[in-house]
Amino acid sequence: MAKFERHIFICTNQRPADAPRGCCDANGLGELQLAFKKELTARGLKDRMRANKAGCLDQCEQGPTVVVYPEGVWYAGVKTEDVAEIVQSHLIEGHPVTRLLMADNESADA
Ligand code: FES
Repeated sequence: MAKFERHIFICTNQRPADAPRGCCDANGLGELQLAFKKELTARGLKDRMRANKAGCLDQCEQGPTVVVYPEGVWYAGVKTEDVAEIVQSHLIEGHPVTRLLMADNESADA
């Protein structure tokens, strides 16, 4: 049975446009999760790391929200154009992308 070194949980929760907390995947296309999946495949990491769709991670106001386990590093406001940097810097080199860390997670180390 495969055991992954890391899981990247990407919130793909949707809410109506007028929802007070907003949501992480307003158009419902799951583009951010797909971008992580594609990047892991392109870097030859798909057998070691998994990009998982997640329901609401309860950080909606800071979304789109991503959390990487086992280290528990949380990212806020992640865009598809940030994915390659997260994969290279954090998942490959072990250095979380500081500019995208969630406010209460700024001292996290991978
Ligand atoms: S909708 Fe994404 S964290 Fe709540």
